[in-house]
Amino acid sequence: MSTQALLTPFHKNINLNNRVVMAPMTRSRAANEGNVPTEDLHVLYYTQRASAGLIITEGSQVSKDAVGYINTAGIYSKKQVEGWKKVTKAVHDKGGKIFIQLWHVGRMSHPDFHNGELPLAPSALNPNAKSYTPEGFKDTVTPKAMTLEDIKQTVEDFKNAAINAVEAGFDGVEIHSSNGYLFHQFFNGTSNIRTDEYGGNMENRTRFFFEVLNTMKSVILQEKIGVRFNPSLNDMFGITLDEETIPTFEYIIKKLNDYNLAYVHLSEPFNDVSNVPFAVEHIAKHFRPLYNGTLMINAGFDQDSGNKVIEEGNADLVAFGKPFISNPDLVERFEYNYPIADWDADTFYTPGKEGYIDYPNYKKEEHLAKK
Ligand SMILES: Cc1cc2nc3c(=O)[nH]c(=O)nc-3n(C[C@H](O)[C@H](O)[C@H](O)COP(=O)(O)O)c2cc1C
Repeated sequence: MSTQALLTPFHKNINLNNRVVMAPMTRSRAANEGNVPTEDLHVLYYTQRASAGLIITEGSQVSKDAVGYINTAGIYSKKQVEGWKKVTKAVHDKGGKIFIQLWHVGRMSHPDFHNGELPLAPSALNPNAKSYTPEGFKDTVTPKAMTLEDIKQTVEDFKNAAINAVEAGFDGVEIHSSNGYLFHQFFNGTSNIRTDEYGGNMENRTRFFFEVLNTMKSVILQEKIGVRFNPSLNDMFGITLDEETIPTFEYIIKKLNDYNLAYVHLSEPFNDVSNVPFAVEHIAKHFRPLYNGTLMINAGFDQDSGNKVIEEGNADLVAFGKPFISNPDLVERFEYNYPIADWDADTFYTPGKEGYIDYPNYKKEEHLAKK
């Protein structure tokens, strides 16, 4: 029996065989009309990784308006739901658990995705970033500030996506409230300069997020909802930290103690923030004391640091991104201390099988032969 913390089962709202979570990762393989997950690509990819305690799917757009990258699989049409049903069944047949990440990119998009119309955002402020369109990377534009009607519609879109997720057989959903996308754009003062009830103070800037959460929990048990944040994200995806950023995330996370969610999923900073004003350098350590529920941590972890963060009591679950791309059997590699294969960043988002379903499991025989 292994004594690694990562490999111990987890039972609170969700029942997981181990604490090794596959982080949500856009892979842009739904290169078909309707952006439907397919049997020969998505089903195989996720099934290969089913020994993860929990898989969180790629960000999946909740509506046509929500998209910002080519070939991402959505969760708003009947065909998409049918496609995802095959994924969830195959993962369940292998004893795995799978949540879907519900995504709206907001201003991180381009008119090419919206018949020439502007993407939606809290305020008409260009993130000055790039959008990956069918014609390659293009500069983002100044988006349209959402009207109250747009906000209402988007809340409905998330609700419908949650209904679809249940129908598709997912064990739960994760709200993608992270990484500079729509919810993060509402949270942050550099992307939200609204003067109505969705802008200004913290309560207002987080109102849209809590409206979505409250609406979603009318259609899916809150024990099956996870939420994701990247509090120290800076200088990426159009987000700049300001003095209210961290206090806003503290406010949100403390308020989430009033819910009974599956988990709160946090990312350690994506880049070095040791000299960035207003940043928190150690996210798990900082936020763990503020939250009573299940805390999932991510970004830059390996087997040792993953075990350590759980042992030290700073997280309950650890999500691994890139290691899961190139190691479908990551859990077994941790269990037997097999080496970890490198990933090829050139095929993260390219169409087809290459770099997607062709990473092999570790061969035990070779390992023993080398010993
Ligand atoms: C190819 C790729 C696609 C990603 N797509 C998403 C996504 O759709 N949603 C999301 O929340 N994070 C996304 N991320 C971020 C990962 O979930 C994770 O936070 C990041 O890779 C850091 O974790 P790691 O060091 O274990 O890779 C993506 C990362 C990569 C490498």
